[in-house]
Order: sequence, then structure tokens, then C-alpha cells
Amino acid sequence: MTVTVRPPAQRTGNDKIPVFVPAIGIDTMKHLTDAFDVGWLGMGATTKDFEERIAAYLGGDRMVVCTNTGTSALHIALLAAGIGPGDEVITPSFNYVADHQAVRMTGASVVMCDINDDDLGIDIASAEALIGPRTKAIIPLHFSGIPCRSAAVYDLARRHGLRVIEDGCHAFGSTIDGAKIGSFGDIACFSFDPVKIITSIDGGCIVTSNPAEIDKLQHLRLLGVDKDTTLRYKNKRAWDYDVVDEGYRYHLTNILASIGVSQIKRVDEFIASRRAVCERYSAAFDGIDGLRVLRRSYDDVSPFIYSLRVLGGRREALIEHLAARNIEVGIHFVPVHKHTYFARARRSPMPVTERVVDEVLTLPLHSLQPEAWIERVIEGVQSFFGA
Ligand SMILES: Cc1ncc(COP(=O)(O)O)c(C=O)c1O
Repeated sequence: MTVTVRPPAQRTGNDKIPVFVPAIGIDTMKHLTDAFDVGWLGMGATTKDFEERIAAYLGGDRMVVCTNTGTSALHIALLAAGIGPGDEVITPSFNYVADHQAVRMTGASVVMCDINDDDLGIDIASAEALIGPRTKAIIPLHFSGIPCRSAAVYDLARRHGLRVIEDGCHAFGSTIDGAKIGSFGDIACFSFDPVKIITSIDGGCIVTSNPAEIDKLQHLRLLGVDKDTTLRYKNKRAWDYDVVDEGYRYHLTNILASIGVSQIKRVDEFIASRRAVCERYSAAFDGIDGLRVLRRSYDDVSPFIYSLRVLGGRREALIEHLAARNIEVGIHFVPVHKHTYFARARRSPMPVTERVVDEVLTLPLHSLQPEAWIERVIEGVQSFFGA
């Protein structure tokens, strides 16, 4: 049985439908109380358990280091990849600002490229045009869970000697040619923040096949202390430690990892239920004059959000129409080059980004979403277009 966390108002017929609702069941509550019972609240054996489950879920020969957020995962992944002052890292402007801030945290400069009009993923030609002698890495985003053109990204990286740090924060469980994103390639990062497909309340991880980089990441995660990871994985502390490297306090605690463990056990169920909602939405909206759906089939997508495009400058009117029906929506994203702090960053022309940001709309999508809410969202959108 799932006890979903919902505000009381949502129990009535016209209750508000939030964009995000976490799926927290009594199974999660049980894992949490068990974790408290162990009496070791900080990073420990449950953190290791969560990491091993992530590695097993993704498949391949991958190793996993969990962190306290997806942003800190991106930060230390970049450091482990050798990114630092004087370097440049390319990522789309159409992305969450966590990536751009993570690049800045390393002392490197972020350079922003455009996206494709179809999958809203990184536009390879626009990224390639930005490559210069200082370019060291590229961060592609799998927007909303839809895989980006990964083969082209890796081909670009190989031709120019770049590291690839995949932002898989929207795409935990999405696949490319049957292989899960993060199970292959260079480095991938994920987020388990409160609204992601699986949550550890706040949390993230880095995935790589390189043992030397795993060592480095473990030091970067825990203040550069040498023996801490091995002993903490056994719910113990070392008192004769040395500090061997630069480091931050970015670890994931046992308590939060226990929530992650409870959630990853149900990830397939969550993904299947979300895919079904996305396919219902797309079947209902595809063909409506004035709308553009991103996908009809979600077979290879672990959908974090359901995003569609509202054409002809009618997005704000649709938002009002849905608000009147008590349906909340979101907008992913305000492009990062529009933010004050990043306005002067080097970037490519942004014709697709500039157009898309006025069109994208995020509809409610939840794991185990109630049928009545799916129908109300579909009716809300269709009635606006007279469909
Ligand atoms: C695309 C993307 N990258 C990175 C992050 C950062 O993850 P976190 O919130 O866990 O720091 C997010 C979070 O929303 C995200 O959507």
C-alpha cells in the first residue's frame, strides 16, 4: 500500500493537482525507522547498500559514489575529471542552473550552446562551434528523461579529446539501445532530490568505471580524509586518519540513503506508471492544432516530467485556464543565459532555445498518479483548445 504525501485539500473532487507529488509509502517509513534503530545516522552501511543497488540497477561495470545532492555530484565529478581554473565546459543554456554553478565552483568557465528542436537535447553543431583550446568537457542533459543524441556527443568528445559528464538527473532508468543511461560512457551524475523519480529527500550520485576516479571522488566527498569511506561503510569512524586530498562535506547519510533504498526497490513500478501517463497525455494531445508533443512512445524514457510545447503565444492563457481548474503546471526551464549571473558567459546563438522557452509547459506527472487526476489534466488541456 502506498501512503502518498498529499496536502489535505487534494482529497476533494476538485482538489489541486500539483505538478510534483512524491510517492512515499509505508515501505519508505519502515526503512526510515529501521535506519534510526541502527543508531548510526551519518554515512555508513546503508549508504554503501544504496550505492550497490544503484550500480546493480544501472548494470554494466559501474561503480557509484553517493552525494548529498545532484549538484554536489556534478561538482566533484568535474573535479575528478580534472576540470579547474582556466578550463571551459560546454552545456546547453536550456538546462537547470545546477550544472552551470557546478562548473563555476571548479573555477572553470561555463560556455552555453543551443538545443535540437525535436528532443530538446544538446545541439552537437552548436556545441562544436564553441570548442576552443580551453574546452575540456561537455555536459549533455537528457531533458525530461528523453535520451539526448548520446552517440554524437561521444563522437564529438572523442574527436576533440573532451571529457563527458552526463547530466542524468532527469533520466534515472532511461535507456539507449537497451542500456541504461549511466551504465556506459564516461561519467554520469544523478539526483535524488524531493521531486525526482526516486528520492532520498536530497541526494545524488556519480557513476564511473574508473577505480582511480572513484578513489578521488571518495576523498572529494568527505573532506579529503583517507580512511573514512572504508570505515564508515561499516558504521565506524577512523581516529588515526590523514587528510590526503582536497575535499568537501558532500556525503549521503544512512538515514537519507535508507529512503533511497526503499525507493529504488520500487523504481520499475514508478517508471512504468509514469510512462503510461505520458503515453496517455501524448495520445490525447498529439494532433491538437497549437500543441506539439515531444514523444508518442516512452518505451526508452524514464520520464521525470511531462513537457509539451504550446505554440502561437498561447501558453500563458493555457496556464490560466488550467489554474482555474485547479491544475498546477511548471516551466522547465528559464534558460541560464537569461539569468543575471550568467548573462555574460560565452555562448552560441540560441535560436531554438529562445523559441522553445516561450513554448514549454510541464504538466502534472506523478508515480502512481490517480486516474481521476490523469483525466482532469487531459480534459483541462483539451477543453482549452476546444478538442
Ligand atoms: C537537470 C538537473 N541537473 C542537476 C540538478 C541538481 O540536482 P539537485 O537538486 O539534487 O542538486 C537538477 C535538479 O533539479 C536538475 O534538474
